[in-house]
Amino acid sequence: MSDATVPDELALFFEHSPIALALASPADDNPLVLVNSGFRDLTGYPSSDVVGQNCRMLQGDADNAEARAKLRAFLANDAMANVRTLIVNFKKDGTPFVNLLYMSRLRSLRGDTRYIFASQFDASRAQPELLQAYDRDLGSTLSKLTPLAAESGIIVEGSLTAIANSATTIAQARLTLSDLDDSSFL
Ligand SMILES: Cc1cc2nc3c(=O)[nH]c(=O)nc-3n(C[C@H](O)[C@H](O)[C@H](O)COP(=O)(O)O)c2cc1C
Repeated sequence: MSDATVPDELALFFEHSPIALALASPADDNPLVLVNSGFRDLTGYPSSDVVGQNCRMLQGDADNAEARAKLRAFLANDAMANVRTLIVNFKKDGTPFVNLLYMSRLRSLRGDTRYIFASQFDASRAQPELLQAYDRDLGSTLSKLTPLAAESGIIVEGSLTAIANSATTIAQARLTLSDLDDSSFL
């Protein structure tokens, strides 16, 4: 059903986007088919470590029960346009961070999901202004992607709901990170 090969012009666009991006197959256990330079810089993982894996590998032993339930609800519900959640992740070197994860779908003209689209942002070490800038970058990435993807017969779904209160989101992420620092993770 799904074609794991990402069209060249989309792969190029992803690679040069200023933010962390990933694409996964809708089939099986959602193996990653592409991660860009922003993802590799953020997580420290080269593509060869993560492509073919489910991205939950970034969660290590973190519980993340609430966040994972939200992500699973999105994946299970085709009518849900997108999802946004904070989730505890670890870089390749073991450094924990609180990932503000955005997920939506890229569909074929027939309406079936070609790829799950995702973007990641470290909200635990950012200032509110940086989160706002990221949100703008994600919004403009999605709007630039829309006509480009259309050329390959792919529809970009899920208009971005901007983070309403970036200071609150940052505060929440920092609190989660400091709770982690006090726990047995480190
Ligand atoms: C394209 C894509 C990117 C994802 N990126 C991340 C990520 O950066 N960090 C993370 O913790 N989970 C990420 N996920 C979510 C997990 O892969 C998984 O869907 C989530 O943990 C819920 O399922 P589970 O409870 O079976 O693990 C991503 C999923 C997809 C499809």
